Amino acid sequence: MSATLATVSYIGATILFILSLGGLSNPETSRRGNLYGMIGMTIAVLATVFGPQVTAHGYAWIIGAMVVGGSIGLYAARVVKMTQMPELVALMHSLVGLAAVLVGFANYIDPAAAGVYQGAEKTIHELEIYIGILIGAVTFSGSVIAFGKLSAKISGKPMLLPGRHWMNLAGLLVVVWFAWRFINTHTVADGMTPLIVMTVIALLFGIHMVMAIGGADMPVVVSMLNSYSGWAAAATGFMLNNDLLIVTGALVGSSGAILSYIMCRAMNRHFISVIAGGFGTEGGAPAAPAGAGAQPAGEVAPILAAETAELLREAKNVIIVPGYGMAVAQAQHTVYEITKHLRDKGVNVRFGIHPVAGRMPGHMNVLLAEAKVPYDIVFEMDELNEDFPDTDVAMVIGANDIVNPAAQDDPTSPIAGMPVLEVWKAKTSIVMKRSMASGYAGVDNPLFYKENNRMLFGDAKKMLDEVLVALKT
Ligand code: TAP
Repeated sequence: MSATLATVSYIGATILFILSLGGLSNPETSRRGNLYGMIGMTIAVLATVFGPQVTAHGYAWIIGAMVVGGSIGLYAARVVKMTQMPELVALMHSLVGLAAVLVGFANYIDPAAAGVYQGAEKTIHELEIYIGILIGAVTFSGSVIAFGKLSAKISGKPMLLPGRHWMNLAGLLVVVWFAWRFINTHTVADGMTPLIVMTVIALLFGIHMVMAIGGADMPVVVSMLNSYSGWAAAATGFMLNNDLLIVTGALVGSSGAILSYIMCRAMNRHFISVIAGGFGTEGGAPAAPAGAGAQPAGEVAPILAAETAELLREAKNVIIVPGYGMAVAQAQHTVYEITKHLRDKGVNVRFGIHPVAGRMPGHMNVLLAEAKVPYDIVFEMDELNEDFPDTDVAMVIGANDIVNPAAQDDPTSPIAGMPVLEVWKAKTSIVMKRSMASGYAGVDNPLFYKENNRMLFGDAKKMLDEVLVALKT
């Protein structure tokens, strides 16, 4: 493939990636957005493999790597459960970071590159390598820890070392000092020491940064690492002189940063403290281990499925708040059946979606779209939080942290300040879950003990099936 054709293909792929991001911003256009992304990536891979930078003897290596990588990716995508997606995404980010580190080192020691750059160009190229490895190493180790925390292989409790901000600052100064040393070396052998020292510090920083983050704040970290992985890819693009990689990396980096910002707003956290690591942990008590039993704070009032159906049948306005438990129970199809039944009877049913409900951005929207719940009755938290006082029944399906009034009432709570869906303001709230166990943030939920709240204990799918049967009889 000629260089001109490769460039044209790169521009085409870039346009498709931008259209893809645009499409993904809305559930109705998201399928198209995905398709654009897939076509764009196919064009990008083909244009790179058959482009002028790859020589014929490289094909065997590339095909071998693509078969191995593609098979692992295909297998992982097939076996991973929807609720495990954040772990998979964290693992993928770690691979992007690792690739940036390896490409950086390979680029530096490549004998073919020796003497290609001189003077200012050499300094710029070395800085590209240094920064690329730095971001890559932070992304790699941070994402591995995020994977461990999300999959509960590592405790979700924040690890707060004494003087940790000073340690970070000292690490930053050492990295800057070694950058100066690195660009002033004349041989590859001399440059290796500062490069390796910086890599080790960056790896430790990544571990330290994510270890300091409490379970409740993990969604922000995942999107932040997503952004880092984009910048790592962009840095790799600079090292390899690959325009498409620079643009794609910048798209991922900036959209990840925007997503992090939205998440921070949704959780009332400060963006800058997120980047520094260990944010939101000073004020609140460390989260109790996830799944720990809630401390009793009064009486809870259980309710049966038949009684729930009765309340729903008599209601004029119903708001359903789905959470992680709906995903675990795969209850979305029954939720749709109940919604359809109630709407046919003239009940105004709407859905309230918290920005961090479930375990990944848009988790609930994906499930509801899969169950064919109409988009026009699915609202974001801010759009209907004021409507709860006029709501007869607020039905909470497998959600916990996102409906926890302690976020508003208890300044010492680890989730203090996080906006929540105010379901307790409805005439009756019904919480559907299996036990009194806490949610992801590991904190007690006073909602369960409120006078107008009822607990429908059991697996969400099973309970909703019973509610549906009762509604139809
Ligand atoms: P959680 O607070 O985690 O609560 C989910 C509840 O579902 C649990 O208390 C659990 O109680 C219940 N549950 C589990 N399996 C169930 C089943 N089969 N049937 C019925 N109930 C079931 O979820 P949430 O309210 O959606 O809040 C999300 C939390 O995850 C937030 O803390 C958020 O910060 C965090 N997080 C979010 C993301 C993103 S990006 N969305 C990423 C990582 C973490 P039982 O065990 O008693 O049933």
